[in-house]
Amino acid sequence: MSIKRSLLGVSLRIYHLILLVLLFAGGQAYAANPDVPDSDEAITAGQSIFNANCRTCHRLDQKSVGPALRGVTDRRDLDWVKSFIVNSQALIQSGDAEATALFKEYNNTVMPPHTFLSDGDIMNLLAYIEYGDRQDATGAAAATGDGAVAETGGIPSEYLMIILVVLVVILLLILIVLGLIVSVLTKYMNTSDKLDEDDKEFINQKTDFKVVFKSDGFILIITAIVVALVVKTAIDGLYTVGIQQGYAPAQPIAYSHQLHAGQFEIPCQYCHTGAEIGKSANIPSANICMNCHMHIQNVEGKEGISPEIAKIYDAVDNNQPIEWVRVHNLPDLAYFNHSQHVTVGGIECQTCHGPIEEMEVVYQHSALTMGWCIDCHRNTDVVTQGNEYYDKLVQLHSESSNEALKVKDIGGLECAKCHY
Ligand code: HEC
Ligand code: HEC
Ligand code: HEC
Ligand code: HEC
Ligand code: HEC
Ligand code: HEC
Repeated sequence: MSIKRSLLGVSLRIYHLILLVLLFAGGQAYAANPDVPDSDEAITAGQSIFNANCRTCHRLDQKSVGPALRGVTDRRDLDWVKSFIVNSQALIQSGDAEATALFKEYNNTVMPPHTFLSDGDIMNLLAYIEYGDRQDATGAAAATGDGAVAETGGIPSEYLMIILVVLVVILLLILIVLGLIVSVLTKYMNTSDKLDEDDKEFINQKTDFKVVFKSDGFILIITAIVVALVVKTAIDGLYTVGIQQGYAPAQPIAYSHQLHAGQFEIPCQYCHTGAEIGKSANIPSANICMNCHMHIQNVEGKEGISPEIAKIYDAVDNNQPIEWVRVHNLPDLAYFNHSQHVTVGGIECQTCHGPIEEMEVVYQHSALTMGWCIDCHRNTDVVTQGNEYYDKLVQLHSESSNEALKVKDIGGLECAKCHY
């Protein structure tokens, strides 16, 4: 009797466990909006639009500068999502409660408008967002300064899906078989007359959820889930240590590089006076703005003083500096010098900062990690022509190597050059 009883006990335990696993698996699923296409063409088209316009700030399955996007058509109205993508600021300014709350949650980070995207483009984008590659979560660590994305290893997502489905089917089958065993055993044992009260009570117990929640199996599953979540958060955290790529804080004045450096072609050094001569490039003071804005009070064709330009006047009148929010930020332990790179190294601002002259709001283009500095030092030739300082070095170098003199050859990989 005791063997049968323990068999029944074990069967019941496993039955409860599987029931729980299936309950949890069901809870994880969500349904993308059925209007979002799921064809391969749409997903591929959407992926290239996403990489060109959104990847700096968004991942599919992981929070980045902006929220993780997969499932957005499930948690929000489709038309809302479309207007947010086209022009989030317009939606926020219209007073839309959801958009305002989200903007606040992301510390007023401005998502640039995408008015150039057609409705078809946006549907393709959403196809990629909902059904695109499911490995995206590790992409953040792989993305490097020049946009190259390294291979991400592991099991392809299609296989994971298939394995998951097979597992669920197997679990369901076991569930049915166990259910049958339990009912047959219960019937059989009830007909037996050799049972004491204790056994009877045990056999005829119901699938009571109070019992389930107190069972070892339940506690085991909850512990496993908590541990998995903690480990995942820790790993995500490690991948993004120091990575602020795409960071684009809102600024106190709606100053546009696209307008000033792009359209009006004002040279970078007119404002960033330190870049050629010193360590820091400097952010211009309000006085430099006043060189022009003493006269220019508004954009052409508009009346009165622009409220944004009025803020410059306020700053000058009150002798208060404009509190620009810093975009690029190396930790204190690293030393970086602009003039060494711009003047001595002959490197363009855009190599490190990206197409600033096209930016309405400045964002961090490069990763600014140690790997990013070192990669460039390994691959970049030193500008030696016309620099007497290097003549001796070049001569020495050419005796031992027939490659051009690189930054690594002049000590560009030495820890102490970059670390105090
Ligand atoms: C410069 C960074 C940046 C870029 C580029 C960007 N976004 Fe965003 N996005 C954000 C931020 C930040 C938010 C959070 C809301 C806010 O601060 O306005 C957001 C929010 C969203 C939301 C709402 C998400 C939700 O959970 O409701 C969607 C949808 C979205 N972005 C789609 C896109 C798409 C599609 C693109 C490319 C065409 C894109 N974004 C490009 C920064 C960006
Ligand atoms: C008319 C003045 C002006 C000109 C010209 C100008 N900038 Fe700026 N720049 C600013 C101001 C003001 C800020 C701070 C506000 C902001 O981030 O938008 C800034 C910020 C920046 C930042 C971000 C600094 C940080 O906080 O990390 C970079 C990088 C930058 N500029 C590069 C350039 C480059 C490259 C050019 C030339 C293509 C250029 N700027 C031309 C005024 C100017
Ligand atoms: C070399 C001249 C010059 C300098 C220096 C300059 N600006 Fe401008 N700025 C202009 C011109 C020209 C316009 C008007 C463009 C137009 O007519 O559409 C303008 C327009 C603007 C606008 C747009 C106003 C609106 O309502 O859209 C803002 C904001 C602005 N500038 C801020 C600044 C700030 C802040 C600085 C200092 C960091 C600065 N500007 C330095 C020439 C300059
Ligand atoms: C070799 C890469 C590189 C080049 C080239 C470069 N920068 Fe930078 N820039 C950086 C880094 C890295 C920082 C962050 C420095 C820090 O946090 O100490 C930065 C910061 C800045 C800042 C913020 C203020 C500061 O000085 O910390 C401005 C403005 C700026 N750069 C403008 C420019 C301009 C304008 C040029 C071209 C004349 C330029 N940069 C060329 C890498 C570069
Ligand atoms: C786009 C390429 C590029 C990037 C990115 C870059 N550097 Fe450099 N770096 C150079 C070049 C070229 C030189 C050589 C300049 C010269 O001739 O002295 C140099 C020289 C240096 C030197 C002087 C080395 C020596 O032996 O005298 C230091 C220090 C330095 N870089 C630090 C940094 C740091 C820190 C970063 C990252 C935040 C960085 N660099 C990113 C290209 C780069
Ligand atoms: C070309 C410049 C450069 C050289 C050479 C360099 N580093 Fe770094 N290192 C950096 C920069 C920039 C950072 C900050 C990166 C960040 O914030 O992600 C950094 C960060 C670090 C950190 C902190 C990492 C963290 O996550 O906080 C350590 C430790 C470090 N470097 C050690 C070294 C050692 C040891 C060497 C010599 C073998 C070395 N570095 C050579 C530029 C350099």
